[in-house]
Order: sequence, then C-alpha cells, then structure tokens
Amino acid sequence: MSAVRRVVIAAGDAWVDAVATALLDRLAAAPDLRMCLATGSTPLPVYDRAARSPESFAQASVLLLDEFGGLPADEPASCDCVLRDHLVDRVPLAEYRSIDPDADDLAAELRSIDTWIDGGGIDLAVLGLGRNGHLGMNEPGSPPDGRTARVDLAPTTIEGAQRYFEGRAHPKWGVTVGLRDLLAAREVWVLATGAAKADIVVASVDRPATTDVPASLLRNHPECTWWLDDPADS
Ligand code: PGA
Repeated sequence: MSAVRRVVIAAGDAWVDAVATALLDRLAAAPDLRMCLATGSTPLPVYDRAARSPESFAQASVLLLDEFGGLPADEPASCDCVLRDHLVDRVPLAEYRSIDPDADDLAAELRSIDTWIDGGGIDLAVLGLGRNGHLGMNEPGSPPDGRTARVDLAPTTIEGAQRYFEGRAHPKWGVTVGLRDLLAAREVWVLATGAAKADIVVASVDRPATTDVPASLLRNHPECTWWLDDPADS
C-alpha cells in the first residue's frame, strides 16, 4: 500500500531541525541503518545539524547516491567531497561507500555498488529533487527497473550544476544508483526547499506517476516522506 507523507515545515532552521531530528531518531531506533545519501545543496544543512551528534552514526553505513564523472581528483564540488565535508568526515561510520565514475573498470565498479546494495538493501534513502523531477542522476525517462549506471545529465541538470562548480569545468555525465534500488529502499525521504521547487513538487506528489517525472514514481512507495518547507509547498 502506498503511504506517501507530506510534511511541511516553516523554512529555515525549523525545517533543518525537523529533518535532522527525524534522522537522529531513525538512527536511535536502528543504529546499523544502511543509508543512501544525496548531496546537491538541499540536504547539507541537515547533515551539518545531525553531525553534531556523531555518536549516533557509529554503527551506520552510508552509500553515496551519485557522482559526477570526469572531475579532477581534488574537485571540491564532487559529491564525495561534499558528503565528506558535511557528514562523513565528521562522524564515525561502520562503512562509507563512495562511487568512482572514472574507475578503469567502470563495469566492475557499477557491479560492486549493486553488490553493496544487495548485501542488505537500503533502509533509508535521503534524496533531493531535481527541478525536472530527477532522483539522483536518474533523469526523466530513466527506466524504473534500472540499477547503478553511467548516465548523461539532462541539459537543465548540467545548467543547474554550474552553481556548484563556480566557473570551473562542470560535468555532463555521472554514475547514479538506479531507480530500482531507490524505489526498493525500505524508506525514502525527499527533501525539497524553496519556491523554485514548488511546481515540480506538485508534479511529483499530486499528479499521476510517470517516468517523465522520476520522483512521481515514489507515489506507490510504501514508506515515502516528502520533507517540504513552506515555499516548496506553495
Ligand atoms: P539541490 O539539487 O538540492 O541543489 O536543489 C537537487 C537535485 O538536483 O537533485
């Protein structure tokens, strides 16, 4: 049965506090939680806040949701660097699995991510929401049964990613955990803030599910929570 919850909270600290508290509550209930975590910009203040309780993470495992391809090794806007800065390097973890899109044997790297997922599934996927409804780098039209894959970014995603790279060369492709495994996560949270997300929130939550809006496929998920601030719900 579908159980999509829409939780709307005042923008700013109240929203950050609510989501971070919920995350710490999940970890208290299941310390060995297997999480798949997004970067982008939306979840970062939540990770910052949750990382103030580092001991909560000591038995948890984290899988990076996606990663840009073709970046220099020291690129600070890589998803790995961003997640390390805001969470992974600040807390003890049982395990952290990043993604290497530039691995010599990419097929083996993709299989290895799928093997990680198959080793216990994903208990909680914390996702952002692309302006086009993408989840991770699963752009509109991505197969709902797709697993970890190398993907091309949609033009709007490439354009949107420019703000992370501040004038440096920005990527046009990446590797993402596939929709199959995100839809199969025991629990999914989608984090969306700001008025710029309001239209795609409506398309994702209030309209029929379609592969044209990957986030709308979560409508049939048994445990999905949309954490919205007021402007994103406007
Ligand atoms: P954002 O990105 O959190 O920076 O808005 C979300 C996404 O594009 O998936």
